[in-house]
Amino acid sequence: MNRKARFIPASSEELLAALDVIRKWGAARSIDPVTGLWRPVIAKANHLLDDLLIQNQKALFEFDDTTFLTALMDWFVERNQKSAVPHLEILVADTRQQADIRAAALSALMQLNPSKRSQWFEYGMNSEIDHLRTVALSVIEEVNDDALLSQLLEWLEPHRQLRLRQSVIIAVGRLKSDKARETVFDWWKAMLAGQFPEPLKLELLEVVQSSSHPDLLALWQSYRGQFGNENEAILPFEVLQGGDLHQGKILFNDRAEIACLRCHIAEGKGGIVGPSLDGLGTRLDPPQILKAVLDPNESIVPGYASERFVMNDEEEYSGVVIEENEQTILIRQGDGSSLSVDKNMLQQRFATLSPMPEGIASALNHRELRDLIAYLTSL
Ligand code: HEC
Repeated sequence: MNRKARFIPASSEELLAALDVIRKWGAARSIDPVTGLWRPVIAKANHLLDDLLIQNQKALFEFDDTTFLTALMDWFVERNQKSAVPHLEILVADTRQQADIRAAALSALMQLNPSKRSQWFEYGMNSEIDHLRTVALSVIEEVNDDALLSQLLEWLEPHRQLRLRQSVIIAVGRLKSDKARETVFDWWKAMLAGQFPEPLKLELLEVVQSSSHPDLLALWQSYRGQFGNENEAILPFEVLQGGDLHQGKILFNDRAEIACLRCHIAEGKGGIVGPSLDGLGTRLDPPQILKAVLDPNESIVPGYASERFVMNDEEEYSGVVIEENEQTILIRQGDGSSLSVDKNMLQQRFATLSPMPEGIASALNHRELRDLIAYLTSL
């Protein structure tokens, strides 16, 4: 009888369960799960099972199930089993495979095969698929290899895609080597001298701000000392450049907490409580757009200033003034309906806050805000 055919069970659940048992086999817990007491554990030999997996790996790697394949790859990486390399090479290059599987194969290859790590890193970074690039970068972050640092830095060159250059700053910031730290120091000096690329500044600030190294933290402390608070130290100008307008558009249209589209028209659709934002980029420059989003009350767009009217009979109305003459003021109320206020009955009128919520941008992180500004600027 064909042993291989017998080895492959029908369902991926069964395979996954079997793999799980094999993975945990050698690692019995030294705390008894029933009594909760410590017990001496005798190491169990599991090479028979290991051998079975290794012998059958060709068939197993052809199995079409994402969860199973990912677990299988983890297993080979845990065991540092280089025999999987040829199968992984097939998976990573197979464009019909899901991105998740190709990314897991890339990660496994980079871990199992240090001599070819830099080659696989290039492969991942050159891929069209975001997931492969992210994996390539994250493996590099974990391994802390100065030789790879210089390779990483090549991806900062101006002709590279901006998003990648930004991720490289973050990746270098996570490396623990002295050389990586010196690199960050040099960037910082360049930034203070006005010679660091603007679209990468937010990443550099974040690297230094979140560093656990005292020297870098000291840089951050002395920098932020010039500002009122942490947010101001990052916000006013750093976020302006290097945003991704497609991401910004998604935020603008879909992010429920900020709901820009509820009040504003952009690209022909949206609500009318606020002014249409079409053509915004030709009316305002990026710092003004940022200001309008961060601080709606700083200057209110003409025709959108809302007022509150207190009448002689204590009744109160509020809305935007549409028309005003000697006798009456025509206002548009929050629900969109119009109302005519009789000036003879008016006791007092006050300017009120912008209908646009204050602090709406605090629902976004700095990078998201930068993307949003990129989108608004493009309108
Ligand atoms: C509840 C309604 C409302 C929401 C939600 C809202 N806005 Fe506004 N927005 C307004 C109103 C009303 C104005 C005009 C008054 C003012 O300038 O504050 C305005 C003004 C603006 C301006 C200035 C426009 C100009 O022509 O100068 C910008 C830019 C803007 N909003 C962007 C946004 C963005 C981006 C979002 C989502 C993060 C958003 N708004 C969410 C109501 C809203």
